[in-house]
Amino acid sequence: MLDNFSNSTPAVIDRLAQIIGRPVRWHEGDIRDAAALDKIFAELSVSAVLHFAGLKAVTESIDRPIDYFDVNVHGSIALMKAMQRAGCKTLVFSSSATVYGPEQPMPVGEGAPCSVSNPYGRTKLVVEDLLYELGRADPEWRIATLRYFNPTGAHPSGLIGESPIGTPSNLMPLVCQVAAGLRPCVQIFGDDYPSPDGTGVRDFVHVMDLAEGHVAALDYLTRNQANILVNLGTGQGTSVLEVIRTFERVNGQRVPFEVVARRAADIGISYADASLAWELLGWAAKRGIDDMCRDAWRWQCANRA
Ligand code: WQD
Repeated sequence: MLDNFSNSTPAVIDRLAQIIGRPVRWHEGDIRDAAALDKIFAELSVSAVLHFAGLKAVTESIDRPIDYFDVNVHGSIALMKAMQRAGCKTLVFSSSATVYGPEQPMPVGEGAPCSVSNPYGRTKLVVEDLLYELGRADPEWRIATLRYFNPTGAHPSGLIGESPIGTPSNLMPLVCQVAAGLRPCVQIFGDDYPSPDGTGVRDFVHVMDLAEGHVAALDYLTRNQANILVNLGTGQGTSVLEVIRTFERVNGQRVPFEVVARRAADIGISYADASLAWELLGWAAKRGIDDMCRDAWRWQCANRA
């Protein structure tokens, strides 16, 4: 594992070791540092890379486009060049459903038109396009691009989970902080969307399902000379209010909320056509909103979020 800990902490390493039952081999370093990457590839015989290293907050990206392109695009290019130098050409890339434009017919499939409205989404699309061209230029590359919908929840052990620095922008960490009494209430951004209760709808997918999706993608690449792009979502839409009500039910905690105006650039309804992941990878999400609420709350109660 390589991490510059810009949005994490080395304390995670011991907890990871607890979870997998053996030491984690890790390096502190930056994906943009070619020498650091070459050193790792020289030390280890790396057969494949799972690339998660990136900045991922949409609203933050609007104020920091240079940082987002530097880390997400330049960093990905530095990684691919290091992999090429080391002769390692199997890559799983973390992309995002943010690349799909607004007002798509639902469920949204991989062939839907992409149109990005923020620097974060643009960096993901640029890297996707680069990976497509790389696969065409050099068929020795085996690439799986995974478009995450809304990653949610935490490891069931309560040892690792989402730990946003500062004010969370995503819904579930905010719900957890309100339930923990750290914030007064959840502000629901609009209840005039075309959904059963009027609040926004998303395809929330448990991070453990996402992790299993990566293993399935890696297995696929070890068996197929391929360059694939796949949605990782449940195929189910859940509204903001449903998340809050589910959280209250499964955790026995009140989550006060107030409805406010829509958030700029929010889309109303988004959920995946997840059929290609099943056809290609034999992967489908197994966990539901109940599990995400329970596991997120357990992580929050461990005072780590
Ligand atoms: C979910 C729903 C909000 C907070 C973002 C990124 C995307 C991906 C996931 C990286 C929406 C509503 C939220 C709040 C609310 N990240 N909401 N009050 O915007 O779907 O996607 O995170 O890939 O790239 O765009 O996630 O969790 O911010 O919002 O009502 O305080 O919850 O309006 O309907 P989003 P989110």
